[in-house]
Amino acid sequence: MACLGTNYTISNYLTNIKMAYSNIPSPCYVLEENLLISNLELLASVRQRAGIEIICALKGFSFYHEFPLVKQYLDGATASSLNEARLAFEEMNVKSHVYSPAYLESEFTELKNYASHISFNSLRQYETFASRAMQLHISCGIRINPEYAEVETEMYNPCIAGSRLGIRRADLGTILPAGIEGFHSHTLCENDSYVLSRTLAVIDEKFGEFLPQLKWLNLGGGHLITREGYDVDHLVKTLQDFKAKYPNLTIILEPGSAVGWQTGFLKSTVLDIVESAGITVAIVDCSFAAHMPDTLEMPYKPRIRYANSEPEIGKPTYRFGGMTCLAGDFYGDYSFDKALQIGDEIIFEDMIHYTMVKTTTFNGVNLPSIGKIDQAGNFVLYKSFGYESYKDRL
Ligand SMILES: Cc1ncc(COP(=O)(O)O)c(C=O)c1O
Repeated sequence: MACLGTNYTISNYLTNIKMAYSNIPSPCYVLEENLLISNLELLASVRQRAGIEIICALKGFSFYHEFPLVKQYLDGATASSLNEARLAFEEMNVKSHVYSPAYLESEFTELKNYASHISFNSLRQYETFASRAMQLHISCGIRINPEYAEVETEMYNPCIAGSRLGIRRADLGTILPAGIEGFHSHTLCENDSYVLSRTLAVIDEKFGEFLPQLKWLNLGGGHLITREGYDVDHLVKTLQDFKAKYPNLTIILEPGSAVGWQTGFLKSTVLDIVESAGITVAIVDCSFAAHMPDTLEMPYKPRIRYANSEPEIGKPTYRFGGMTCLAGDFYGDYSFDKALQIGDEIIFEDMIHYTMVKTTTFNGVNLPSIGKIDQAGNFVLYKSFGYESYKDRL
């Protein structure tokens, strides 16, 4: 437990939390509010020490029941679609910084109502839409592509050759179109402050001549500030140095992962245990493909509470299989101290960011419920899903 709200004692919390676990349905994403607060406190301290703005990226963290809390610590939200911008407006009561690879004519009029800043992905998009945004005093910018990223997975690297994301220096010309007030650059993914520092050097080298004319520089997401071991002091110093060079710029970071990082879990239950060619497979009531897609896309092996992710000879060891019929919907192997039984609870750790925003009802599998353990240790159920959620998408 990282921190407790001031009104709660540890013994109260521990009593409540025991009860909380017995109330959680299965499967269910469960956010732990005290862990979220601890992330938000850290982000707020960076924001204050570095003199920058930090906004929450809805694409990674859209747990809107907590938006009022997020708003107490951060400067608002960043949205990548009309729906996200509207959600931030309705639930966080803020106008978003918006960026999308392309805007829809049919949505732009409404989108403007929910935006304080809009970044455009191409000069053509800027010419098409910016004047309408400026009439509403929305600050307009463009996304640049510095062609420098230290991201190993191509799927998450916005600087791959032929990337559609952002304008390369060679395509920008020597004079910025009138009205551009900011640059947006997103090239990090779960990176540290040293990658940011090297990235800033490239931005400065390639785009530095424009920076004195601008009001803001949005350095996107991918800053995993809340990961253990992140060098926060180095980040603060890096940002302070950059600000000293360009005092005209408001620097903005828009992390998603760092907000929701290790703030909760996905509870599931063992439905069956089958033997297959010497491998023991526990089938759970959730799915890697449908409910934890990054585990297969990124890919990474999720942690399971009380299990060793490195299989140990001599201990009960299982592969976990999801509920869909996709052959690859599994992860293994994990060792436990005791053999699993049907009905046992399986807790997949760190399943709040980039999970519920990406779920599918593939195979007609239900979406996990959504709830939280509040600051006092009580479980609060927000939603459960059924047939209508499945049918609505078809
Ligand atoms: C433009 C932009 N901003 C912010 C983010 C959030 O990044 P992260 O959740 O890794 O911090 C992303 C993620 O893809 C992004 O594309």
